[in-house]
Amino acid sequence: MADDIEDVSFLPGDTLNRKSLYEPSLPQRCRQLICTKGKATAIIVGMGIFILLVALIAAFARSGSRTCDGQTTESVTPTAAPVEDYIATNGEKFPWRNIRLPPSISPLEYDIYLHPNLTQRKFSGDVKIKCQVLEKTDFVVLHSRDLVVTQVSVKTLPDNDEKKITNQLEYTKNEQIYLKLESSVSSGDKIHIKMHFEGKLNKKLSGFYLGTYTDSHQVIRYLASTQFEPTAARQAFPCFDEPAMKANFSMSIVRDKDYKALFNMPLISSTPTNGLMRDKFQQSVKMSTYLVAFIVCDFDSITNKTKAGTNVTVWAPKDQISQAHYALQVAVNVLDCYNKLFDIPYPLPKQDLVAIPDFSSGAMENWGLITYRMTAVLYDPVHSSTRDKEWVAIVVAHELAHQWFGNLVTMKWWDDLWLNEGFATFVEYLGTESLNETWKMEQQFFELTLSPALTYDSVKSSHPIATPVHNPDQINDLFDSISYFKGASVIRMLKTFLGEADFNKGISSYLRKYSYSNAVTADLWQSLSESSSQKIDVKAVMDTWTLQMGYPVISISRQGSRVTLSQSRYLSFPHSVIKEEFQSPYGYKWYVPFVYGEMEEGGNFIENKVWLNMTQAVVNVDSNKLVIGNYGNTGYYRVNYDLSTWQKITQHLMKNHKVFSDGDRAGFISDAFELSRSGLLNITIPLEMTKYLENEEDFLPWSSAISALTYIKQRIYDRDVVTIFKKYVLKLMKKQMTRLGWKKEGDYLTRRLQSLLISVAVSYGDVNTVKEATDRFNQWMQNTDNIDPELQGRIFDAGIMYGSEKEWTFVKSQYLTVLVPSKRSQLMKALAKSRDDSLLSRYLQYALDNKIIKQQDISTVIKFVSGNVDGRLLAWRFVQRNWSKLRKWFGDVSFTLTDIIKDSTSEFSTPFDLEEVQQFFKEHDAGPGTRAVQIASENIQMNIQWLEQNGQTVQHWLQRNSE
Ligand code: BES
Ligand code: ZN
Repeated sequence: MADDIEDVSFLPGDTLNRKSLYEPSLPQRCRQLICTKGKATAIIVGMGIFILLVALIAAFARSGSRTCDGQTTESVTPTAAPVEDYIATNGEKFPWRNIRLPPSISPLEYDIYLHPNLTQRKFSGDVKIKCQVLEKTDFVVLHSRDLVVTQVSVKTLPDNDEKKITNQLEYTKNEQIYLKLESSVSSGDKIHIKMHFEGKLNKKLSGFYLGTYTDSHQVIRYLASTQFEPTAARQAFPCFDEPAMKANFSMSIVRDKDYKALFNMPLISSTPTNGLMRDKFQQSVKMSTYLVAFIVCDFDSITNKTKAGTNVTVWAPKDQISQAHYALQVAVNVLDCYNKLFDIPYPLPKQDLVAIPDFSSGAMENWGLITYRMTAVLYDPVHSSTRDKEWVAIVVAHELAHQWFGNLVTMKWWDDLWLNEGFATFVEYLGTESLNETWKMEQQFFELTLSPALTYDSVKSSHPIATPVHNPDQINDLFDSISYFKGASVIRMLKTFLGEADFNKGISSYLRKYSYSNAVTADLWQSLSESSSQKIDVKAVMDTWTLQMGYPVISISRQGSRVTLSQSRYLSFPHSVIKEEFQSPYGYKWYVPFVYGEMEEGGNFIENKVWLNMTQAVVNVDSNKLVIGNYGNTGYYRVNYDLSTWQKITQHLMKNHKVFSDGDRAGFISDAFELSRSGLLNITIPLEMTKYLENEEDFLPWSSAISALTYIKQRIYDRDVVTIFKKYVLKLMKKQMTRLGWKKEGDYLTRRLQSLLISVAVSYGDVNTVKEATDRFNQWMQNTDNIDPELQGRIFDAGIMYGSEKEWTFVKSQYLTVLVPSKRSQLMKALAKSRDDSLLSRYLQYALDNKIIKQQDISTVIKFVSGNVDGRLLAWRFVQRNWSKLRKWFGDVSFTLTDIIKDSTSEFSTPFDLEEVQQFFKEHDAGPGTRAVQIASENIQMNIQWLEQNGQTVQHWLQRNSE
């Protein structure tokens, strides 16, 4: 039976990028009985040897030396091929043997002319790059990929003297062009490089690519747009495509009369040429190539102004522009908020937000021209849920944060990507909070960011925040939960110990100091140290969090009034045989700003702080007072107590759980279950703790509990005990289900709780809930306007799960015609909930037909079919069968291959599965998904071991605790 819970944003083992967070899958179950302990161990050891080999190959591929400023000095062989022969396309030797560009020439200004032809799916253009010579040289190297580059000339300025080019070579592997000059140019000289280029408007969702959408008259319409981050600007025009090579960009675009052209900067003039129009745009500020963007489309727009006078415009297809008002309102308000927060005004005259029908990630922060997936920018008050609305606010707030963090100040090289993504993730909460306090963003941080980070960072296949990267595959691989979620979590912890005022001061001075320039992580620490009135050495503290992977568990042990706080590295799966790719320079010890609460007589807590400086600490507390760690939940660590304290906490939860905040309650549940996973705590402790949930009325602790309980359910899915398990969970939920029912009332988090509980009840087959949900589904089939948008996803799921081909076909037809992207996305996910093999197979087949499922959504379909126990094997077979296609389509797109690998394999729970997955990726290149294969393998091993360790105990506990 298919029973997937749909409303938990994150579960252990679930794949992570922010898009998938809001397009959550869930519980996935094992398809086979777990084998005996002896056999499992033998296979794990056998597999360990293979993993070791893979790790060695990966480590080899990553070896490359870095100078002290973090710059790469050597090129790196990205695959297992030991010797690179550097043969150019014409068969000659390619003289430049480094994947990084030479430091001798730096671009100052680009003047680009582009003529895209949407009908013929191609473009041509001219680029003129004014450059500064920094070191004497007789050659130029720049980036180009999949372009035919001709008519190359180099002139010296100011006289425009032609420098003869004696050889022009291209080395496709490093995506470089080499121009040999007849004689040298000297330091201080300025030169002009001119090139003509031609390329294809590809359909790969990166570079300059073609998109399509169908309007309300079923007419297919075309647009061309860009996605350059991290290394795809070179697919649109030859350029110096490294983040530190900033320049000013001027642009002219030729377009059809009925189309519009958009660029980072405002339009200056439109001139008719040969029946077409030529649009010229203002020159940009100094910026990195990955932030350049241009679009040719036939969209409509709505506009407003910020208090500071910036013009904000949202663009969308004509039929959908009515759904753009919320994003416009968010953008205007959040820009005003950040102008104040950073104390630096947004520097461009305009900010455009564009809804792109074919888009690989959630959104992209191109300076002044932010592009969005439709679901991340369009919101319909009648048909979308509050969660959809919140997602729009979060994404807009995130991308606007990048206008300062990333765009104004950019990382020197991609190994500091976390400076961009971690910071924007942290700041998105501030931006969203400023819009709507009732969403309680600060509390949601635990569920959406901190908790997933702790899960991802607790395995040996994790990586430090600062990770050396060299080639595009490795760079793409860095857009992961460590950069985003751990990055944001450690910044939040840092803000807590520095204090808000000092923190804001330091951030503002950092942004000011490095405006229109680049920075490394140490520069940020320097600015924050300077602003610290407590004189904290920020670098010393933060290096332990960014240069080593993982985090500590702080154990609190008590002898009378003496409380000892000790730290050790936390691993979910300490017995993992994965060979670690990274060693810690600090022996896995941290500077921990430990916050604890002492409980007073009346139940109030007094907050205290103590530093664990790479070692332990001792504090004195009244011996009869309860001490709880990570008070306020801002720490990036877990806390373990002695047995009697865990029991006391449980007693308090049972007696009056409100003595603890909802965040602390969620933290106890999350820590206790997690510690039991690693063997540090007997699983009966968290199981006992769950009993208090009957009275729990808040979303946060419930979401923490459901996510932990789901992990258990996935492991025991095919055992008899699962029946008692479901009964137990349904019993826990009963009181709150009765309280909330299907009522259309309550604040946002209350409605999230309602939706979560309904989702569990539907998937566990609770008779009353299933009946109500399917009745509502049938009413919706009669009248598709008749549905509560907050619960529509649950209703669609139930209709498909408990329905037949008729219901499935109806949902499919709705999916194809509905114009509200957030609703479409709910329908798309529901289609994967079927329990009918043939429908699921058909659905997977649709994923290859872009008239039904857009390429951007293939990974979501795979994810949701994999999340359905009846579809899991089908999905994994589908991935294997179509691997070469998927690799080709998504090889250049961050997240996607990683998602596909993790989603289609991570929930397997048997040695047989493990072997199959590893064997497959031994024979097939995973490209940017190489780390994902490691993570998936470790997850499968962890799943196997969890059952060995806890299966019996859970069964006995459930038998004892079910009447
Ligand atoms: N800079 C990224 C977009 C991106 C992702 C570019 C991967 C290249 C590779 C953007 O700022 C981002 O982080 N987008 C998120 C949404 C956000 C709200 C977290 C995304 O796409 O999921
Ligand atoms: Zn981002």
